[in-house]
Amino acid sequence: MKITRKRVAIVGCGLVGATTAFSLETQGVCDEIMMIDINAERAVGEMRDLKDSIEYLGRNVKVTTGTYADCGDMDIIVITAGAPPKPGQSRLDTLEVGAKICESIVTPIMESGFNGIFIVISNPVDILAHYVQKISGLPKNQVIGTGTAIDSARLKNLIGQLVNVDPRSVHGYSMGEHGDSQMVPWSTVTIAGKPFYDVIADNKELVGDVNLDELVEKTAREGWEIYNRKGTTYYGIATACAGIIKAILNDENRIIPVSTLLEGEYGEKDVYAGVPTILNCTGASDVLEIHMTPHELARFKESVAVIREHTKKIMDV
Ligand code: LAC
Repeated sequence: MKITRKRVAIVGCGLVGATTAFSLETQGVCDEIMMIDINAERAVGEMRDLKDSIEYLGRNVKVTTGTYADCGDMDIIVITAGAPPKPGQSRLDTLEVGAKICESIVTPIMESGFNGIFIVISNPVDILAHYVQKISGLPKNQVIGTGTAIDSARLKNLIGQLVNVDPRSVHGYSMGEHGDSQMVPWSTVTIAGKPFYDVIADNKELVGDVNLDELVEKTAREGWEIYNRKGTTYYGIATACAGIIKAILNDENRIIPVSTLLEGEYGEKDVYAGVPTILNCTGASDVLEIHMTPHELARFKESVAVIREHTKKIMDV
């Protein structure tokens, strides 16, 4: 008899890692969470605190600590460790040091015999996810960046506020770089199946003149609005990551815009970018090629060009 338990390791016990673990625990997404940090005592502290919440949660989730050598039979490993941007830096400015940190994590994890799914949160996420895929040698479906999953949530919040509906009833994606160059294919955004363009036209009194470029800019800036006030972001990204993990572990075939390797989709290849992707127990199973207008596709390609240009700094692509 074999009972398979769903096991997730979190590398990096800063606020993003700890909140991701807490989100997994409170939602009962997996059976075991292993906390890993270069500061082993920090990981123990998080583990003990997380254990203390079990009594008042819906189910028991085993929380442990471990090392990279213990990762061999994990289903999913979340990489949150990285170099947070200093004031005035963009996510792209932390690339070189982020890549070194990823290497120091991924090399020993691969030596442990790991053959599960990496989810990279560390920024710049598109490039670091690509780098992790390259140095791990794992197939592309097994290395996923959280990408524009969080930006899409922010976009839906902004649209939901504008037209006064639950953001979860808004359908739409922010795509491309998880960063300043991200774009929104507005022709595909709908509310209850109604094109957002029509929603705006039919509700002039409620919404006034909507500046779509400004909405994209606000979406991309939201992370900074939070960062400038509290020095970091974690609830949004941690919950987005838990959503991605849930889709994978439950084999949901849910479509979430994550960063994945493009192999000809949207006319792009050899680059990781945020695109709607079908997530199931194989990881990033398929990229959905949504129909964009020529103008939207051009904007998407501009964003991908930014990712590619920076990717070249650390990899031959
Ligand atoms: C954010 C971080 C994850 O946008 O980049 O919240």
